[in-house]
Amino acid sequence: MKQTKKIPETFLGVGYTRDRAGLPLEAVRVPVPRPAADQVLIRIAASSLNPLEYKLADLNFMGRTPPVVLGLDLAGVVVDVGDGVSGVGVGDAVAAMADLNGDGGWVATGGSEGGYALAHQFLTVHKPTSLSFPDAAVLPMAFLSAFAGLYRTVQAGDTVYIPGGGGGVGHLAVQMAARPLGAGLVISSGSTPQSIALARQSGAHHVFDYKRDDIAAEIAKLTGGEGVDLVFDATYSERGFVETAKTVRRGGNWIVLGVGPGKTTRLAETQSPVDAILAERGAEHVNVNLLRYFSEPARLDSEARAFLQRGMALAMEWAAQGLVVPHIDQTIDSTVEAINAGLQSLQAGHGVVGKVAVIVDRDLALGASR
Ligand SMILES: NC(=O)c1ccc[n+]([C@@H]2O[C@H](COP(=O)([O-])OP(=O)(O)OC[C@H]3O[C@@H](n4cnc5c(N)ncnc54)[C@H](OP(=O)(O)O)[C@@H]3O)[C@@H](O)[C@H]2O)c1
Repeated sequence: MKQTKKIPETFLGVGYTRDRAGLPLEAVRVPVPRPAADQVLIRIAASSLNPLEYKLADLNFMGRTPPVVLGLDLAGVVVDVGDGVSGVGVGDAVAAMADLNGDGGWVATGGSEGGYALAHQFLTVHKPTSLSFPDAAVLPMAFLSAFAGLYRTVQAGDTVYIPGGGGGVGHLAVQMAARPLGAGLVISSGSTPQSIALARQSGAHHVFDYKRDDIAAEIAKLTGGEGVDLVFDATYSERGFVETAKTVRRGGNWIVLGVGPGKTTRLAETQSPVDAILAERGAEHVNVNLLRYFSEPARLDSEARAFLQRGMALAMEWAAQGLVVPHIDQTIDSTVEAINAGLQSLQAGHGVVGKVAVIVDRDLALGASR
């Protein structure tokens, strides 16, 4: 095992220290982990905020024993590698996603002390020099979510509806469909001038206001009464699911990110008419869920690993080529206060479009690109 010097024994992370503690997160001193086989240890330059992080703090549904440090999107420099790691080594600038049932790398110190997190080699890619650490850091979870929904599913020329095209996942999904995957018509939605503008800027041909417009009727007009070939719904809105299911054509695909209709509270299952609406149209209900790879380990087989690895590589490639470019709405320091305020805004569903970048190590993140 190769190892650099000066890796501290502990760092002051940000996370939850009690089961289902919810927000606010707290500062917690934890050991710097050691990489097992096929893992790398990354000194974090930048990370991002994802809704998953307040949900894990609320419900601890991955069954972890606290303390759990969050900040699962990672960009930084490899400082140690486990056995069997090849192709990425100590000193390399990388982007990665930590295991979703593992620990992340947010620090409470605003950058005066480093943050460290482990990532599997298959979820770690070299960061192109043209991409900044914050740009690389906001991509992994949101990009992989869009990728899992759309890659190998959208065919060139398809008509696609992606509600919420101003969201973290949504704006990347709109770009992916409209640009590298070559959809013929991309329709999206939002509820604020800012999110509607981001969906348009991301390449959506039509963007509706989901609070005001009859989007199913508008989509029927745009598609000659047929509906779209494919819906990718990453909004986690039970009401929204019912509306978007009505826009898919006979024999089309309705793809939902996460647990899906009737299950979004995670606490109690509710009745959802979505499957009946889809059955009427002979449309397929497809569920994509990154969490499942980590809660049901058998799913993380060699095919899934190769798929996710391809996703991480394309995240960097398409961003460097300007095809799928993350929009960073806010950049915050890695402090308990700033992270809690950012997560509270995400949880409230207002005030954030695109992504929030977290600067974990200011010198590394904003210094000369590497
Ligand atoms: N299980 C998984 O694999 C996985 C992975 C990643 C994310 N997720 C989940 O996916 C969801 C989205 O993540 P994110 O990072 O994109 O969150 P986000 O940045 O907060 O975006 C949420 C988006 O949903 C839109 N929205 C909300 N209700 C809507 C409705 N009824 N119709 C249309 N759009 C609606 C919002 O639009 P406006 O702001 O314009 O209102 C916003 O753009 C979260 O719940 C997250 O936990 C799951």
